[in-house]
Amino acid sequence: MSEARIRWISGPVLRAGTQDVFHVHEAVAVGPSALLGEVIKLGPDDFVAQIYEDTTGLKPGDRVVGTGQALSVPLGPGILGTICDGLLRPLLAADGPFIRPGVRTGGARRFGFEPMVPAGTRVQSGQAIGRVASPRPQLCLVPPGTAPGVVRWMAPAGEFSGTEPICRLEHEGGASSEIALTHSWPVRESRPVRARLAIAGPMITGQRILDTLFPIGRGSRAALPGGFGTGKTVLQEALAKWSDADIIVYVGCGERGNEMSEVLDELPKLQDPRSGRPLMERTVIIANTSNMPVAAREASIYTAITVAEYFRDQGLHVALMADSTSRWAEALREVSGRLGELPGEAGYPAYLSSRLAQFYERAGRVRTLAGSEGSVTIIGAISPPAGDFTEPVTMHTRRCVRTFWALDRGRAQARFYPAIHPLQSYSGDVDALARWWQAQGNPDWSAQRKRLLELLEAQVRLERMARIVGKDALPPAQQLTLLCADLVNDAILRQSSFSETDRYCSPQRQTEILSLVIRFIDLAQGAVEAGVHPDRIGELPLRRTLQRIGEEFGETRIAQIRALWKQLDSEFSSLSRERVDAP
Ligand SMILES: Nc1ncnc2c1ncn2[C@@H]1O[C@H](COP(=O)(O)OP(=O)(O)O)[C@@H](O)[C@H]1O
Ligand SMILES: [Mg+2]
Repeated sequence: MSEARIRWISGPVLRAGTQDVFHVHEAVAVGPSALLGEVIKLGPDDFVAQIYEDTTGLKPGDRVVGTGQALSVPLGPGILGTICDGLLRPLLAADGPFIRPGVRTGGARRFGFEPMVPAGTRVQSGQAIGRVASPRPQLCLVPPGTAPGVVRWMAPAGEFSGTEPICRLEHEGGASSEIALTHSWPVRESRPVRARLAIAGPMITGQRILDTLFPIGRGSRAALPGGFGTGKTVLQEALAKWSDADIIVYVGCGERGNEMSEVLDELPKLQDPRSGRPLMERTVIIANTSNMPVAAREASIYTAITVAEYFRDQGLHVALMADSTSRWAEALREVSGRLGELPGEAGYPAYLSSRLAQFYERAGRVRTLAGSEGSVTIIGAISPPAGDFTEPVTMHTRRCVRTFWALDRGRAQARFYPAIHPLQSYSGDVDALARWWQAQGNPDWSAQRKRLLELLEAQVRLERMARIVGKDALPPAQQLTLLCADLVNDAILRQSSFSETDRYCSPQRQTEILSLVIRFIDLAQGAVEAGVHPDRIGELPLRRTLQRIGEEFGETRIAQIRALWKQLDSEFSSLSRERVDAP
């Protein structure tokens, strides 16, 4: 056992002198209460470690003991439905606005296990050998990295704790090993897969502005930057509740304790709209609020992605929300500052960008070791100071993600939600997803989407002009463009997370709304070309209906949206008759 003595300590970091061998990323036990820490830098006769717990009381001369293992977390069926700290230790119940620190609980909980392979089977790393039924069906895999072996003993169906053996393997050369429901994995190391696959289908979010304009593929990566109060948390929660992922990993990273305890309060009460089961059964929450140790916040996003990969390896589609990666970067900055490292832009260490990349590049759609398809989709919120998207965390994140959902202060102030700016946002997954929409019965999706974006772009230009010359001085075709762009904003982009009817919009309802809006625009353009004044189109009853279509035609009234086509045609044909009848 390697041993060292603290020479210097400052907040969450220490330097310890030693003659023994330590490794970078090795977990260490520090001081009389064996606080958990991790070696982050090696010197000739010393090393630097960060400590994941409150270091009050530690002093020079205290002992640091190596564990010989990289900082790891235990992965098993018990994680689902729990609320943990940055190192996956279950948090005790929220205590008022504060959340008490996590403790590693013993393997007391038992799970109903059912074997899937008989004794005598040859198995290898990542293969499923059994399943657990609750809280949701999960597979028990041969831990990645295990040498191939033959099953010599398999537990019968029954109740097992996370640490009891359920299988014994015999490896080549006669060595044997045991497998339990829980295994441990180093958080900074990505879990192996058979192959990485290209994006092929969307992760449906149920938010029109996302799915229709800036879609995200399963296994892709998105950034959600926005100043304070622009709607990051509300949107992340909406995604946690409504997106069609099998598993949600939600990291509350460094936000204030009271904001986090709202999430902790609310999520456990919600039901999964598809299964009708409590939403928590498919969710893991990792909470590291601003009052908790700063180094654990740094580790929390790697813990989260490790948990996400663990479920991916079972052939599941996982969505990981991190709120907010800026607070994570601040933790990195604080630790770096205490070490006296040379600060880079805005005081962040030079390795900020590589650390961000190490996180985001673990997203992906994969062929698992067991041969099935799984994915991890990452959505990282960023809180740039003063909403400035040129600051380092936003800039570096931009390089790591494919999709960028920019929250806009102006839109949020106008209470236009979600406040995603349609001209500052983009999606790199559009081409890969057009085929999916085609298969869903909307062959025009790409063209429709492009048309909306062109309209929204024209709106900005024309509004500027209208401010100078007055709206009425614009030619009718341009006045109509403004009218149609407003309609696109109201009918498609606006969607309140607090509306019972509209907080979720299925792909089918999105297609119906989108097609109806496009039909309206086509007819309106035809009418204006035929000499109808845009104001007359603005007065059509159906325009008012369309402005509120999301609110008035919920998931149970999709068929009625179709029925509006007839009304649309008749309102426009009466307009053109008016024109013919006019003196
Ligand atoms: N999608 C939305 N639907 C309805 N209201 C929203 C939405 N997004 C934000 N809001 C409103 O804005 C407020 C601030 O949002 P929040 O997500 O807490 O901001 P942030 O996390 O960016 O600081 C919310 O309390 C809510 O009233
Ligand atoms: Mg927030």
